[in-house]
Amino acid sequence: MDTIIVKGGNRLKGEVNISGAKNAAIAVIPAAILSDGVCHIDNIPNISDVFTELETLTCMGATVKMKTANSFEIDTRGLRNVAPPYELARKMRASYYFLGALAGRFGEASVPMPGGCDIGVRPIDQHIKGFEALGAKVDTTGGIINLKSDRLLGAPVYLDVVSVGATVNIMLAAVKARGMTVIENAAKEPHIVDLANFLNTMGADVRGAGTDTIKIRGVASLHGCSYALIPDQIEAGTYMAAVAGAGGEVLINNVIPKHLESISAKLEEMGAEIVEYDEAILVRRTGPLNRVNIKTMPHPGFPTDMHPQIAAVLSTANGTSIINESVWENRFKYVDELKRFGANIQVDGKIAVIEGVEKLKAAPVRATDLRAGAAMIIAGLMAEGTTEITHIHHIERGYENIIEKLRALGADICLKKDYGDVTNAAG
Ligand code: UD1
Repeated sequence: MDTIIVKGGNRLKGEVNISGAKNAAIAVIPAAILSDGVCHIDNIPNISDVFTELETLTCMGATVKMKTANSFEIDTRGLRNVAPPYELARKMRASYYFLGALAGRFGEASVPMPGGCDIGVRPIDQHIKGFEALGAKVDTTGGIINLKSDRLLGAPVYLDVVSVGATVNIMLAAVKARGMTVIENAAKEPHIVDLANFLNTMGADVRGAGTDTIKIRGVASLHGCSYALIPDQIEAGTYMAAVAGAGGEVLINNVIPKHLESISAKLEEMGAEIVEYDEAILVRRTGPLNRVNIKTMPHPGFPTDMHPQIAAVLSTANGTSIINESVWENRFKYVDELKRFGANIQVDGKIAVIEGVEKLKAAPVRATDLRAGAAMIIAGLMAEGTTEITHIHHIERGYENIIEKLRALGADICLKKDYGDVTNAAG
């Protein structure tokens, strides 16, 4: 099993470039199924979730060409199969976006129940409610979601909970449905706006993305396009947290500072200095860290996907911090791992109480999910001694070149490859 080795104690210094947004990429890639032409997509991050989706498209009959490291050409005109392969679909949460995209193009889809990070029960009732409102019949027996419709028709859909995934899926199903779909209580995350912009670049009529109400007037066809994804809000936030935790001064390039406001505000409260530029953000932390309280909320609130990284930083802040996780019911699995570093954290339901300790001490730990893995790296950078992190496939799902990027900032971090039992293999 490959591991990440981090020797703590180095302050971070220099500049880092943020990659394209993971959660935008994994919505936009299946959306290319809706196009009658070729889609050129730039700023796609090199992460395993992206490669899983591109492989899924290829298996289903699409042609995918890598033009440069972060630029892909997707041609789905030859795609005929409406059932993504089980083994690929099970690898990631976002495989459910194939449902909306295939429904939008063929009126039918057959997709295994999704995998992804284990951060609590992850129901899809709001997705199904949306598809049914548009006239589809949905059946979930045997762990497969089967969707069928003669003709999707635009309809009003009120989401009972603000769901990113349901908002994306209903948008995908509705862009080519006949008539108007109105999603009320829609998610407002930056990647929802990015998906709407991508669809509109292909000729769709989607308005209001980024607000509570999204109106989608169905169009008969969508053409090919060229599109560049937005930068990754959570990757940027993770480097901001790393600087706050390890100390130092880093210019984080290729960001949209507006997307980072809730994170910047908390880091400032914690004693970091933040300077915003047009497309960059400078983070400096030299003094002690202050305690803060955080409640995660849908955008524009503090993102749940930044909570484990901030918890790692708060583990050495002065005083008692409280994190209230209001989006996911079971996002605290990483706490036991942080405790191995000597962090003092008590969890009660959706609340974590963090008593700051003077310093963290290196330990062998596990990445329990994607953002928890990022938190382990941050704790490793802060800790005294050498930390070994296992289960790093979670980290590879969502962070492009994280080891190289941190090394360029002065971190003592490397990948330890496991080549299996070489002696036996040779014998
Ligand atoms: C997306 C992100 C994930 C992030 C989350 C919240 C992707 C691939 N993943 O996940 O990183 O943590 O948004 O910002 O973009 N819910 C229901 N019924 C549903 C759907 C959701 O009750 O049908 C609930 C969930 O249990 C959860 C809340 O709504 O409590 C938010 O879930 P949702 O926004 O759908 O998360 P994802 O789209 O899965």
